Amino acid sequence: MDVRCFTVGPVAENCWIVRREGADRGLIVDPGDEAERILSAVGELGIGVDAILLTHTHFDHIGAVAPVARATGAPVYCPELEVPVLANVMDWVPPGFGPYESYDADQTLSGGEHLELAGFEIEVIHTPGHSPGHLTYSIADEAALFSGDVLFQGSVGRVDLPGGDGPTLLQTLRKLAESFPEQTTVYPGHMGITTLGAERATNPFLAELAR
Ligand SMILES: [Fe+2]
Repeated sequence: MDVRCFTVGPVAENCWIVRREGADRGLIVDPGDEAERILSAVGELGIGVDAILLTHTHFDHIGAVAPVARATGAPVYCPELEVPVLANVMDWVPPGFGPYESYDADQTLSGGEHLELAGFEIEVIHTPGHSPGHLTYSIADEAALFSGDVLFQGSVGRVDLPGGDGPTLLQTLRKLAESFPEQTTVYPGHMGITTLGAERATNPFLAELAR
C-alpha cells in the first residue's frame, strides 16, 4: 500500500492519500486544509480519486473537503450523525479559524458498511467518544486503520468537545484493540503513525484496557 501523509492546517491534521502500490486510483482521508497542496500531490501521483473518506467533521479534518471534492469529482463519505456539521461548517468553527466551505455529503455511513473503493476492501467501524458519529476505516488485508482522532501515539482523542464522552471513547478503544491484531498499523488524525500493539504496551490511556 502506498500511503502519503500531508500534515495540514493550523492544528497539524493528517490528511492521507492512499492507493494500492502503483495503482492509478486512490482515496483521500480527511482533507482538513491546504486543498492546493493535496490536489497537487494527487496530480503528481497521476491518480484518480474514487472517494473522500471522513472520520469525523471537526473543522481541522474537513476544511478542504469542498475544494478537493470539486476538483477531483470524488464522492464524499461522511458520518451520518455529522452530516449537518459538514453542511454548516462555520457554525462549528472556533473563533480565529477559517473560513471553511460547507459541503453536502454525497454518501453517509454509520458503521458496519463494507466499501469497495480504489481496489480496497474497507470495513467501516463506528468509533464514538471523540465525536458522536466518528468512524474508523479498516483495510484488513493491509492491516491498516485510519482512525481519525480516536487513538494517537501515546495519547487519545479529547472528549471535551460537543458530543464527546470519555467512557464511550474507552469502549471504542477496547473494541478496536479486541477486533484487530497487534501489528495493525494506525494512521491517526494527528501526530505519527503507530501500531495497536505499541499503544497497548505503552499508551497510558490504554492501560485500563489491560485490566
Ligand atoms: Fe477531532
